[in-house]
Amino acid sequence: MRMVDLIEKKRNKEKLSKEEIDFIIKSYTAGEIPDYQMSALLMAIYFNKMDKEETLNLTLAMRDSGDILDLSEIKGIKVDKHSTGGVGDKTTLVLGPMLAACGLKLAKMSGRGLGHTGGTIDKMESIPGFKTSLSMEAFVKQVNELGIAITGQTGNLAPADKKIYALRDVTATVENISLIASSIMSKKLASGADSICLDVKVGSGAFMKTIEDAKKLASAMVEIGKGAGKSTIAIISEMDEPLGLAVGNSLEVREVIESLKGRGPKDLMELVYCLGSYMIKSAKPEVSLADARNMLEASITEGTALEKFKAFVKAQGGDENVANDYSLLNIAPRVIEVLSKEEGYVAHIQSDLVGHASMILGGGRQRKEDTIDYGVGIELNKKVSDKVLENELLAKIYVNDETNLASAIDDIYEAFRIEKEGIKEPVLIKEIVE
Ligand code: URA
Repeated sequence: MRMVDLIEKKRNKEKLSKEEIDFIIKSYTAGEIPDYQMSALLMAIYFNKMDKEETLNLTLAMRDSGDILDLSEIKGIKVDKHSTGGVGDKTTLVLGPMLAACGLKLAKMSGRGLGHTGGTIDKMESIPGFKTSLSMEAFVKQVNELGIAITGQTGNLAPADKKIYALRDVTATVENISLIASSIMSKKLASGADSICLDVKVGSGAFMKTIEDAKKLASAMVEIGKGAGKSTIAIISEMDEPLGLAVGNSLEVREVIESLKGRGPKDLMELVYCLGSYMIKSAKPEVSLADARNMLEASITEGTALEKFKAFVKAQGGDENVANDYSLLNIAPRVIEVLSKEEGYVAHIQSDLVGHASMILGGGRQRKEDTIDYGVGIELNKKVSDKVLENELLAKIYVNDETNLASAIDDIYEAFRIEKEGIKEPVLIKEIVE
């Protein structure tokens, strides 16, 4: 087989066979196909697309390019969730302990944040002592004993995707449904869970800007999951404002703990209950969605989810006293209030600008090697559809290093769109794709 013939085939809108896709992925991972040929193929795929069968074959080839985690020593159904990335998205940290309190097994690998989106691993590391690199043995043992473990990526998962994603990033070939779906799902399938729940974000702060594109991505990923023999569902949720009120690592952990104490923001808890109900149902098909929700609600009201959270923090080396003493989170002491310049109703809060404000204060990374100031960030005081008076508080900025404070304030003002007419409270969950 010659790569040039396969590029030509895709350029001419023909379908690639399983053998051809396997050859491309194996040879490229082994360094036998140069980046310039792979770039040409990616651009041909970008324009001429792949059908369902090609997309599944590409995903399986990338899954098989490295280690596939063996979670067979974990008893019971292993569930996993994945979000396509958002601002203020601390869902995993609220939902994980709740699911574990309901008897599920969450064996989760998470990533770090880059750009305006945060990463679960960074959030957890804002807890003093918390370790996010577990050995495979420790990971399996903890899930078996506690029902929850969250680690950074271990092993060599889907190395083909790593190489191809880096190339897509610099060849303007990221935004293609088959390429995004296969990239995400190859890693999820290599992580070894039995059941996968996907949270596909749509809106200004998300990869997918329109509901049509979000539906296409969700369907593509669900089909891949099912095609690979895993129970898979996707929830399409809105990201036209940050999720919850807190954006920034320690601030988000404080919001997580407050949520586990029953004081969570409405939108965050709605997403948590929706995702959680489907995850329980996928692991225990005999439980109805309504009963699953009741189980999750009981984990909050009876305090079992909070106890799980503390045990989880302790098991991974962190100080579980953060649950009672927020001063241990070292939230930045200097707080700047951003006040509204006008009266009206909040029509929109552009999430990526709020994420950007947090990042330039030091709460996120512009480059992979940047270090993070965990204590800084933004806390919103208003959400979309809220009424706001002139000089009323829109958001608080928590800052240590003031170098970029003025730009962060500008970001917050730009993020808030205030209009004279009131609007309806937004609907967070747009669709369920099964
Ligand atoms: N996240 C991924 O892992 N891959 C993509 O292609 C897009 C988002």
